[in-house]
Amino acid sequence: MKILVINGPNLNMLGIREPAIYGAETYETLCRLISSFAVEHGIEAEVFQSNHEGDLVDRIQQAYGTADGIVINPAAYTHTSVALLDAVKAVGIPTVEVHISDVSKREDFRQISYIRRACIATISGHGLKGYTEAMELLMKEAGL
Ligand code: DQA
Repeated sequence: MKILVINGPNLNMLGIREPAIYGAETYETLCRLISSFAVEHGIEAEVFQSNHEGDLVDRIQQAYGTADGIVINPAAYTHTSVALLDAVKAVGIPTVEVHISDVSKREDFRQISYIRRACIATISGHGLKGYTEAMELLMKEAGL
């Protein structure tokens, strides 16, 4: 099984950006966590991060026919991007939405998630652990 983990804008700044909200662990730590989980569970994982909406759309499209599951934290594009929603719908790959912070307890403008409509589940507020929980869900979905 191959899982693609996609992170949107500013998530490369983890550890530096608003640590009271997103924690002190860095983006590199997140990448290592995902790789270790994949190795332990005998699956493949690829991590991709971009600050650009079109690059995120391109990466989702490239997953067609190559990835069995997608974990996506679209970051700020969660609340604005119909293009990312359409891309996930277009490829038809089981996708889980992840947020490090609990967006349900934050500002009004974070209460809308466009991508949620195309996702089999949302994990919000579990910190970095949310990513491996999402990978577990995708493995279950695939019958592993
Ligand atoms: C986020 C929540 C978003 O509202 C925010 O724009 C982010 C990160 C999270 O992981 O908690 O950049 O997706």
